[in-house]
Amino acid sequence: MARHLKPLVAGNWKMNGLARSQSEFRKMVNAGASISGAKCELLICPPAQMLYLLNTVRGRSRRIGLGGQDCHAEVSGAHTGDISAEMLKDAGATYVIVGHSERRQDHAEGSTSVLQKVKAAERAGLRAIVCVGETEKERDAGKTLRVIGDQLKRSLPDGRTAASTVIAYEPVWAIGTGRTPTVSEVGAVHKFIRRKLAGRFGPEGEEMRLLYGGSVKPENADELLSIANVNGALIGGASLTAKDFLAIAAVYNS
Ligand code: PGA
Repeated sequence: MARHLKPLVAGNWKMNGLARSQSEFRKMVNAGASISGAKCELLICPPAQMLYLLNTVRGRSRRIGLGGQDCHAEVSGAHTGDISAEMLKDAGATYVIVGHSERRQDHAEGSTSVLQKVKAAERAGLRAIVCVGETEKERDAGKTLRVIGDQLKRSLPDGRTAASTVIAYEPVWAIGTGRTPTVSEVGAVHKFIRRKLAGRFGPEGEEMRLLYGGSVKPENADELLSIANVNGALIGGASLTAKDFLAIAAVYNS
């Protein structure tokens, strides 16, 4: 169990966000004070071109953290269209999501590449949110735990700590579909992940935060965030408005 670190409520804006979306972020920063004060940590991962802008919007307030959605393994160089962990850090990020299923699928990213990105995050001083999750086909074939065990093993370099690493369990079939696994299904996977992390990283693995992601909304947040070994959420669609994002985070206030 994460005994020392606050739960993390993280929003992934994906490929959504124009300069005008800063108003939604401003609302989050203003209203987020009451929520992030004691009970949980708030994070928004906007598209990279918005990081610097949102960092300016929040001014000196650190009520809401900022993160990238992906990074290249190298520091800099001839990699057209890519962004490095150092660049994200420079623009105001303290976290980076790596291995999201949309990256794994759309860009054929395998766990070997995810591992290099986790190392890059560490090199740049960013915390990595490492995503794992099974497809519907894998779940139907009874392979969920095997797939997740393999992703965890191959995506995480040795020496991970609770401070440097967050794991997000996101069943691929639950992302953006409105469907979620049952409480017992989420509980079983998170228990499995906890056991694997504790086995490999000892007390650091015991404390690492495990997020659930996939169709988290204000209506189901209470139920999902109360499950044992669920230490926060990774939220896509519902993180685009301050109202829904803060309503989810408010679960930790009740
Ligand atoms: P969703 O996305 O909340 O829109 O299902 C979750 C994610 O992909 O992180």
